[in-house]
Amino acid sequence: MKALVFGGPGQRSWDTVDDPGIQDPTDVIVKVDTTTICGTDLHILKGDVPAVTEGRILGHEAVGTIVETGAAVSGLKKGDHVLVPAITSCGRCGPCKVGMAAHCEAVGGIGWIFGHLINGVQAEYARVPYAETSVHVVPEGVSDEQVLFLADILPTGYEIGVQNGGVKPGDTIAVVGAGPVGLAAMMTAQIAGAGRIIAVDMAPSRLKHAENFGATHTVLGGENAEQEILEIAPGGVDVAMEAVGVPGTFDLCTRIVRAGGTVANIGVHGAPTTLHLEELWIKNITITTGLVSGSTIPTLLKLARDGRMEAEKLGTHRFALGEMEQAYDVFGAAGEHDALKVVIQA
Ligand SMILES: NC(=O)c1ccc[n+]([C@@H]2O[C@H](COP(=O)([O-])OP(=O)(O)OC[C@H]3O[C@@H](n4cnc5c(N)ncnc54)[C@H](O)[C@@H]3O)[C@@H](O)[C@H]2O)c1
Ligand SMILES: [Zn+2]
Ligand SMILES: [Zn+2]
Repeated sequence: MKALVFGGPGQRSWDTVDDPGIQDPTDVIVKVDTTTICGTDLHILKGDVPAVTEGRILGHEAVGTIVETGAAVSGLKKGDHVLVPAITSCGRCGPCKVGMAAHCEAVGGIGWIFGHLINGVQAEYARVPYAETSVHVVPEGVSDEQVLFLADILPTGYEIGVQNGGVKPGDTIAVVGAGPVGLAAMMTAQIAGAGRIIAVDMAPSRLKHAENFGATHTVLGGENAEQEILEIAPGGVDVAMEAVGVPGTFDLCTRIVRAGGTVANIGVHGAPTTLHLEELWIKNITITTGLVSGSTIPTLLKLARDGRMEAEKLGTHRFALGEMEQAYDVFGAAGEHDALKVVIQA
């Protein structure tokens, strides 16, 4: 089969590789129908994720059709159309039982294994471990594009931004970073009933997209951002979400949150940040962090099915599976192409 293979930092190729086979009785094999690329894949290609070794097939978001089931799989069958989420869940360990598959103990203490610790889904076929407790059957009448982004960024925005942030009806929130993840947070904050949604980004094009994902106010990042946000939300916002992953934006979130509010960090950080406890200790704030678990995917699937959430709006560019390299070129230069997410279909 063909697959996108990591060849070490800076190296990727659409190669011919062996077809995957069932290894464990809880596995299924899916034919990948639709997949996409994540910012994390770009981090891997830069060499930022050393656990990913040469020869690994990348990708951790897909919709596919089951073509083979392991001996222990009884709840799924050949022909089932399923969403394969970024996070694998054994369903049995302590973290899985409390809905925190992000830290599933069966698969190395981390639920993110596709395109990381095992071969991923940017391929014609993929082996899916712990299939029954990990994949979700796509509801009748719902397209691949409507559910593809529920594999990773929608539950990330919802669980790590909205739920961790404790967004309540009428809340004023700020989302710093209006990339796909920040936009997913805005989209799901709207569903949670947020009143004012302030989008903050350095790129005017991203702020323009934000208006289409529920932002009621937009603020250009930079020196004046704090003041502008506080003019919209005197006293501070109820919830400040960080969706960039750099010290400056985390710091901004701690300065714009109201007393008693929450800073929900979503961004993946590569450098330490100074936490100004000398100013924050008196503010009664909560700071949350986390890796997505995907526990809200069933809820999000119902919202997609019922037309309450148009996740497909995140897909701005389309490619055939054989055009994987071009899809990477476009997604890797998202600013140049005004791209959010790419949709890659077999
Ligand atoms: N916690 C999790 O489970 C999880 C899951 C997926 C992604 N993430 C992380 O979420 C973050 C966002 O992901 P993404 O795919 O949307 O990334 P992205 O790079 O597409 O978007 C980031 C946005 O931040 C903006 N930005 C950069 N510097 C800024 C600044 N100083 N002020 C305001 N805006 C600024 C950029 O213009 C861009 O629009 C990343 O750090 C990613 O690794 C976390
Ligand atoms: Zn991802
Ligand atoms: Zn588990």
